[in-house]
Amino acid sequence: MEQALTKHLDETIPNWPDFLSEIKQELFEVEKNLNSSLQAKSKILSSIISYIFNSGGKRFRPALCLLTGKATGGITNKHIILAELTELIHTASLVHDDIIDSSSLRRGKETINSLWNDKISVITGDFLFAQASMRLGDLENTEIVKIYAKVLSDLCDGEIEQYSYKFNPNISWDYYIQKSTTKTASLFNAACKSAAMLNTKDKKVIEHAENFGNSLGIAFQITDDILDFTSTKIKSGKEIYSDLKQGLITAPTLFALKSADKRAKQLEKLIENQFDGSDATLSQAIRIIFELGSCEKAEALAKEYIVQAKENLDFIKDIYLKETLEKAADFVLNRA
Ligand code: FPP
Ligand code: MG
Repeated sequence: MEQALTKHLDETIPNWPDFLSEIKQELFEVEKNLNSSLQAKSKILSSIISYIFNSGGKRFRPALCLLTGKATGGITNKHIILAELTELIHTASLVHDDIIDSSSLRRGKETINSLWNDKISVITGDFLFAQASMRLGDLENTEIVKIYAKVLSDLCDGEIEQYSYKFNPNISWDYYIQKSTTKTASLFNAACKSAAMLNTKDKKVIEHAENFGNSLGIAFQITDDILDFTSTKIKSGKEIYSDLKQGLITAPTLFALKSADKRAKQLEKLIENQFDGSDATLSQAIRIIFELGSCEKAEALAKEYIVQAKENLDFIKDIYLKETLEKAADFVLNRA
């Protein structure tokens, strides 16, 4: 088992971004635990879990837990647990998200709902959430339990909010940022805040770590939205144009809708009419979004959030470590 994992990591580590080399050993530990410590009695659950954790994933949220731990006093065993449970929650939410989005592809592999079915996916997601709760208990820190309980509530809130505004072109930027905060940034925020709280009681440091995670999380959602337009199925490992097709108004679409150009009105109508269920009409909407430079505008917005995130790093006195966290922030942007 350990040998197979070492081989798997040796093959994937050369492709890891260089800011991860700082925490390579600890990430190895997290990976090992994700692969081995989720004990399910059911054979079917065991095979699904092994499938999930051998299907790639950037482990970006665990990396943030570990780097923030390092920047606030050092990585302890509790940071490893925090990193692990954060990845478990993220993975569980993706398993559920793929059911809601009827996605057949994730990280270049078939989704659980596609390989097995929706019912099995619901239970798998629930199992992962339950495992994360058990790890949370191991931290023996009530404050962090409260933070993560709120994250779970936020994830559901954000996802339902997004669902209820499908094919509605009249949403505001406030709505978009709030939805991205609850759906995505809340977990980044919790990961960084909790990693700091495990090391310090300094309110300012904790607040900076929290703000760093929050801005980074919003930037992450914006770049995710951009990639849905600009990436390819091979590169992103998921279907492209899937957000718009489903009627989700993401950052590039919102920029196009808010444009003063007359094509904005045209786009609004196409969305309201749900593209008449036609691929040609969907393509017309995509063309308008590109023609109005909306992906570039969204990239500029993501950049603003990355700048905001980095403004919170001055508390880190170790220049090298500060640079590593800056590189982690740039990594979010470079995805787009
Ligand atoms: C991916 O978004 C999904 C999320 C960030 C969170 C989804 C949350 C839920 C399904 C609720 C979780 C349930 C519980 C019980 C806490 P995306 O669709 O924008 O990303 P994608 O393009 O990778 O699918
Ligand atoms: Mg999705």
